[in-house]
Amino acid sequence: MKRGLINLLGGIGMMAIAIVLFAFVAPQDQKLGAAWKIPAEYKTMKNPQKATPDLLNVGKMAYAKSCKSCHGGAGLGDGPKASSMKTKINSFKDAKFQAQTDGEIYFQSFIGRDDMPNFEKKIPELEDRWAIVNYIRTLK
Ligand code: HEC
Repeated sequence: MKRGLINLLGGIGMMAIAIVLFAFVAPQDQKLGAAWKIPAEYKTMKNPQKATPDLLNVGKMAYAKSCKSCHGGAGLGDGPKASSMKTKINSFKDAKFQAQTDGEIYFQSFIGRDDMPNFEKKIPELEDRWAIVNYIRTLK
């Protein structure tokens, strides 16, 4: 009788451990982002900024403040919040990503979609926005 109870408790304990382990080990079912639909006026948008060291530094600081938590310090898409996103974040080092125009990167960065937030209000200055785009170019 006593042994039966111990076995039962042991069984429940093992199950609890298995459930807890599963919750942590189960891979995030993140979906891959579909191709971005970027309006023509953004695609051909001209970057008005020269990437001077000072402006790149502005971009670096703004990136650290607003983007790094998801995109990671090196832009690999591995920031602390990345794994809780529904969509996988592409690496800025990716050749396909870098092959886009500055305007396309601008649209993705400040207009966004779904769990990529819109930053038009949080980063109102055009100078800061283009500084971030130019900084992202250095992460390749
Ligand atoms: C809360 C998390 C989060 C923050 C903060 C964030 N992003 Fe994103 N970003 C994402 C996610 C998720 C995607 C992928 C979205 C998709 O494909 O639908 C993404 C996609 C992008 C892309 C397109 C690359 C790709 O994966 O397709 C660019 C460019 C980008 N973000 C720039 C920025 C910039 C610049 C900032 C800061 C101003 C920023 N992001 C802040 C979550 C974030």
